[in-house]
Amino acid sequence: MSVAPTAALPASRRTMGHVALHYGQKEEASLAARLLTTTGYVETQSFPLPDGSSFYRFVVDRHHHARGDGIVFLSLLPPAQAAVVDAARAALGFGTADEHPSIAGLRAAIDADPEYTFHLGVLLDSLEELERVVEELQRLNRDDPEMKGRLKITMNRARRGEPAVDARLDASPVFGDVDRYCYGRAGVQAFIETDILVAGPLADSMVLELDYVFPGHDSHILSVVES
Ligand SMILES: [Fe+2]
Repeated sequence: MSVAPTAALPASRRTMGHVALHYGQKEEASLAARLLTTTGYVETQSFPLPDGSSFYRFVVDRHHHARGDGIVFLSLLPPAQAAVVDAARAALGFGTADEHPSIAGLRAAIDADPEYTFHLGVLLDSLEELERVVEELQRLNRDDPEMKGRLKITMNRARRGEPAVDARLDASPVFGDVDRYCYGRAGVQAFIETDILVAGPLADSMVLELDYVFPGHDSHILSVVES
């Protein structure tokens, strides 16, 4: 494994600016926005478009409200892209008995690892907040008339070996009985796959990720990826 040095890099700064997400159904605009809000994104703007859909601007937290980074734009899957998706689905027999085997292959890969394909991760500085969000999403997936059954929530806990971290997660209402582990140390991940948001070659779902890193670790899930 090689880890790149930083000493020779330019001193100017860059941050991750924005990402554009899509919902798949025009009538699910507000549902998609509610999912992002529940997940912790902050809606700063929304307006209707002539096609009857809605466009939203979110930020990852309130500190980014007037900034140029930390932004998530949310809109309907654009028609020209939806047309390609429809053609691909038809050509591959998506959802039919004659479905192309590559679709089951991709599905199995995402089921095994929600990070397998395009996804969006945010870092929280509070494990309690992450647990609260996950519990609320689990409740919505169980009880909410619009979201029921639309969320697939998966967690990875920190690799075992650090007693304080292990004890905290063993006692967690969310991570206590999780038997999946991160690709690194001293952190946790929660994944929310939903078909309310769409991405990927068939635009059939998307994964949102929430991360937390325990303080005081130079090597953790987001600093070094371990095999
Ligand atoms: Fe990820």
